[in-house]
Amino acid sequence: MINDYSSQNSHPSDILPNTFQTLLRLLEMLKLLHSLSALVLFSIALRVDGLLRFPCSQLVTERFDPFNLTMHPDNDLPGLSTCTTCRFVEDKSNYWTAVMYFKHPNGSFLRVPQMPNHNSGPGYQDGGMTVYYFQPSVPLDNLKFVPFEKGFRMRVGSPMRRTKDDLDPEDPEDISTLHAATLRCFNGTDAGSGGATTGFGPEDSFEFPNRTCSGGIRSNIYFPQCWDGVNLDSPDHESHVAHPAGGFFRTNCPETHPVRLPLIFIEIVWDTRPFNDPALWPTDGSQPFVLSNGDPTGYGQHADYVFGWEGDSLKRAMDVCTVGDGVPTSCPALTVQDTDAMNSCKKGAEVPEVVESQYIEKLPGCNPLQGGPEPATVVPNCNVVSTTIEAPAPTAPPTIIYPPWEVCNNSTVSTFAAPFCNSIPKTTTIGNPQSTPAPAVITSAA
Ligand SMILES: *[C@@H]1O[C@H](CO)[C@@H](O)[C@H](O)[C@H]1NC(C)=O
Ligand SMILES: *[C@@H]1O[C@H](CO)[C@@H](O)[C@H](O)[C@H]1NC(C)=O
Ligand SMILES: *[C@@H]1O[C@H](CO)[C@@H](O)[C@H](O)[C@H]1NC(C)=O
Ligand SMILES: *[C@@H]1O[C@H](CO)[C@@H](O)[C@H](O)[C@H]1NC(C)=O
Ligand SMILES: *[C@@H]1O[C@H](CO)[C@@H](O)[C@H](O)[C@H]1NC(C)=O
Ligand SMILES: *[C@@H]1O[C@H](CO)[C@@H](O)[C@H](O)[C@H]1NC(C)=O
Repeated sequence: MINDYSSQNSHPSDILPNTFQTLLRLLEMLKLLHSLSALVLFSIALRVDGLLRFPCSQLVTERFDPFNLTMHPDNDLPGLSTCTTCRFVEDKSNYWTAVMYFKHPNGSFLRVPQMPNHNSGPGYQDGGMTVYYFQPSVPLDNLKFVPFEKGFRMRVGSPMRRTKDDLDPEDPEDISTLHAATLRCFNGTDAGSGGATTGFGPEDSFEFPNRTCSGGIRSNIYFPQCWDGVNLDSPDHESHVAHPAGGFFRTNCPETHPVRLPLIFIEIVWDTRPFNDPALWPTDGSQPFVLSNGDPTGYGQHADYVFGWEGDSLKRAMDVCTVGDGVPTSCPALTVQDTDAMNSCKKGAEVPEVVESQYIEKLPGCNPLQGGPEPATVVPNCNVVSTTIEAPAPTAPPTIIYPPWEVCNNSTVSTFAAPFCNSIPKTTTIGNPQSTPAPAVITSAA
């Protein structure tokens, strides 16, 4: 199994996916025309797209697959968890992604740090992601949905994929698979924009961008939202679930997987800014980033989810939190915690090895770079460190990376999906962007 993961317990992203972006643009148009108030549009959005959108900071970075080690299906995640890195304290789910490394011209690797997404505050989260739960929306055959069951888990994306050649962008079945995991190149503070059905916009690509992205790179990952209604998991962690054909929004579930789930979408923002010096880029026109599963293309991007909301909290929230503005405090059915509390929830790594903060000679585990286009293969007779330790959770304050954009709205005028800076009761760590630490000491190739 591929095994280099960043384990992140609950968090969210920028980013007004597709439909939101469309609404935003519509809203701007309407404002220009002075023809309709924002409130009217919001109430439409509300009925159409119930949404939870929230940040989760990083729990731990280590080389283990979520479906191995101690992740037994009978585990009672809410019962076993003592804290969560997510804004909503009821969410004890696990969200995993492969992490990104920078490959230095001299061949060494440095983990690319993560930074807070647009509108992820108030407060600056320590790495992690933005998590969205969308309700299915009209026009659909069946709007009833099941907000997961205890023990449910799934994976999206194929760690071994290295090209889109096997997927036909014209085939509705393939459209969703192809767009489920993409990368967005941020130009400065601009959040970019996405298309209405697949969320795929002009700044998005399936492969790593060839150009430098002055605001960093964001992973956009859509989980399957259609379930066979029977199996909580499957041997490949995929076949019990499916994407709707033709895209993720307002598309029907296939007959094979008729039970609708909330659509989980995650965004992870990689701070590639320290690596934008052309002297650090390969001279052959390729780009320097790789995924921890040995993928220099981006096609092997994948993520995992283990459901772990307390009791029926997710269902209760989705029943009533239909405002659709994606601001956590707009969902009174759930409890928010401040960003300091999120950031202080940490887990000790169980594998005693260095995976970040300094250059390493090879990717952790048995993950040699495999550029394709043929699918990657599992390295036989892998003999990497397999001992585990019970390391204490780190207690040092996190090294927060400040993004180039605002994370909350400091005005009194409500802006779509932007939490007010005073919306979380307790004072949170609103850092001084001037104090942004250099994420890594970089020197050009010798
Ligand atoms: C868990 O991972 C270890 C080490 O990678 C492997 O040897 C073992 O077979 C895996 N177990 C399962 C159940 O997948
Ligand atoms: C980035 O944004 C700037 C200013 O908004 C614009 O002039 C420039 O063309 C953009 N670059 C790309 C590659 O889109
Ligand atoms: C990057 O460049 C390569 C080689 O020129 C090309 O095949 C690929 O499509 C480019 N990718 C992007 C995202 O522009
Ligand atoms: C906050 O709201 C003001 C007024 O609507 C707007 O100009 C500004 O862009 C918003 N800031 C963010 C970060 O959303
Ligand atoms: C909000 O604005 C006030 C007044 O301009 C400023 O003092 C404060 O630092 C700002 N807070 C944030 C989070 O930007
Ligand atoms: C490559 O460069 C980095 C940054 O200077 C350095 O830390 C690392 O040890 C170098 N690796 C090799 C193999 O020289």
